[in-house]
Amino acid sequence: MLADLAAKAAHLLPPEAAHVATVRALSKALGVPAKPPAFPTNIAAVLPKSGLKLASPVGLAAGFDKNCEAPEAMARFGFGFVECGTVTPKPQPGNPKPRVFRLTEDRAVINRMGFNNFGLEFFVRRLAKYSHLVPIGANVGANKDSEDRIADYVTGINAVAPYADYITINISSPNTPGLRGLQDKASLAALLSRCADADRKAKPVFLKVAPDLDAEAVSDICGVVKAEGAWLAGLIISNTTLARPESLKSAERGEAGGLSGAPLFHPSTEVLRLFARQLGGAFDLIGAGGIASGADAYAKIRAGANAVQLYSMMVYEGPGLALRVARELSHCLEKDGLATLFEAVSKDL
Ligand SMILES: Cc1cc2nc3c(=O)[nH]c(=O)nc-3n(C[C@H](O)[C@H](O)[C@H](O)COP(=O)(O)O)c2cc1C
Repeated sequence: MLADLAAKAAHLLPPEAAHVATVRALSKALGVPAKPPAFPTNIAAVLPKSGLKLASPVGLAAGFDKNCEAPEAMARFGFGFVECGTVTPKPQPGNPKPRVFRLTEDRAVINRMGFNNFGLEFFVRRLAKYSHLVPIGANVGANKDSEDRIADYVTGINAVAPYADYITINISSPNTPGLRGLQDKASLAALLSRCADADRKAKPVFLKVAPDLDAEAVSDICGVVKAEGAWLAGLIISNTTLARPESLKSAERGEAGGLSGAPLFHPSTEVLRLFARQLGGAFDLIGAGGIASGADAYAKIRAGANAVQLYSMMVYEGPGLALRVARELSHCLEKDGLATLFEAVSKDL
């Protein structure tokens, strides 16, 4: 409650300054309750292929804690798992500021951060100290000026694998020029075949994709994933979108970058459904994009997700959103007479 009020008060600051102040305060665990919350038992999830056991299927999406500074605090706010990063091998400053914008009227965010982060060395030092209150994911990326981007992913996987509970290969940021090109058939095949040789220490690895994919592109990715990525645990669907729906009202809608929050909910859920139809239970799917309620999380789970992640709506609602979504999700299951989350997965395919 207090944290949610603080989150709202942070809106008096420009978005990035508010974010930096929040993560810094959280890293010192200011005002954070001592224990992780108890979840309703009917929402406990096991992701079949990755073997991840989650007390709550509601996770924190990447980008909030890029340098792995506050994972314990986020676990205590009620996230069932937390994903830190994106981290790149070398530190990099990202794009010039301002680079993150609140679209308050649209309950959305546009960001063009450009993988600003302190680099792998800093990240791994923090990750190694994490107390594993809930499972932690390490999301790895490539440096903007890298001559061999695939090598950056291999370096990232090797470095985080000893300490992370799962790893995410992020090829879907719209803010590193050319990065999304790694989703093309030939590039994705090369990426997956080289990453297969990384030393992942038997940790589950997820591939994070963009929402801006038509049915043919989804089909192509599924084909490559089945052929070259059988070793993957699953996919995270999705990152931010380059689309600008007509419905956007805020003055900032013309800013360049990736759009997230409420307007991303529908398109990201439909892309998730396309992936779920083709990958049919062989891979774990984590749904992200615009989740603001238990009903939103439930819709993603019924569309094929085994778990979900959120970030942007927390900007408006505060970190208490994680627990609220989990509790509402439990009510959704009860209302439909489902005893466990597992029974809801893919019901709407
Ligand atoms: C400010 C900001 C920074 C982000 N940075 C990253 C990132 O570094 N790596 C990544 O994989 N996703 C990043 N994302 C995308 C989120 O993880 C998530 O996939 C997306 O925003 C959709 O979920 P949401 O609508 O709940 O935010 C970022 C999102 C925002 C708003």
